[in-house]
Amino acid sequence: MAGAFLSFEGIDGSGKSTQARLLADALRGLGHVVCLTREPGGSKGAEEIRRLVLEGEPDRWSTETELLLFTAARRDHLEKTIRPALARGEVVISDRFADSTRIYQGLTRGDLRDTVDRLHDLVIGCEPDLTVLIDIEPTLGLSRAVARAGKEMRFEDMGIAVQEKARAGFLALATAHPRFAVINGARTPEAVAADVLATALAHLQP
Ligand code: ADP
Ligand code: TYD
Repeated sequence: MAGAFLSFEGIDGSGKSTQARLLADALRGLGHVVCLTREPGGSKGAEEIRRLVLEGEPDRWSTETELLLFTAARRDHLEKTIRPALARGEVVISDRFADSTRIYQGLTRGDLRDTVDRLHDLVIGCEPDLTVLIDIEPTLGLSRAVARAGKEMRFEDMGIAVQEKARAGFLALATAHPRFAVINGARTPEAVAADVLATALAHLQP
């Protein structure tokens, strides 16, 4: 079985983490070796950066600083986790990847899309083979995210208008890039997971 790089994207509370986990379980059941990982994070250094960006006051970092931190975390994640797993022929499933930076640092928290794209080309330079966009209404996402509230509230604190903009931005990316599959997340986890698995299997080589 050949390796592949899959990412999950969507607004906060859309069900990405749940679906990434369910897909990993299903693919393992079918005999694939799966590397389930997440951003920001997914390697030792990137998990340390995660704490810096997700905890503390909403205005702790400027958008530019935040972009550099998320990108530094991604570079470490690529070097230490994603590329080695792909080289071993594993299926890498990442809960968020570069599209999150395009949306949050490029669109909703600033107007840095050009800088985001240039930095991506300079130090990241790759995209997933398949990106699953879990699409839901922001009110639903926010109510789920708030119900789950923990220490990492810096972004969820930002409110519904920001989530509306992020949702529209993700849908626009999905229209522009054929690597996206958009899946309706406003159903039971099992119903969403069945669609996700069918989509993933269509992209994986036997
Ligand atoms: P994300 O990673 O996109 O923020 P999560 O997978 O962490 O989303 O889900 C956010 C919350 O909503 C969690 O408490 C999770 O158990 C719950 N949840 C996930 N998927 C569903 C679903 N399809 N229906 C109802 N609740 C869900
Ligand atoms: P995550 O832990 O996936 O949050 P959630 O499970 O609530 O969706 O991501 C935390 C936050 O980090 C989320 O609000 C999106 C933000 N983020 C960025 O702003 N830029 C990025 O490049 C990434 C990967 C995440």
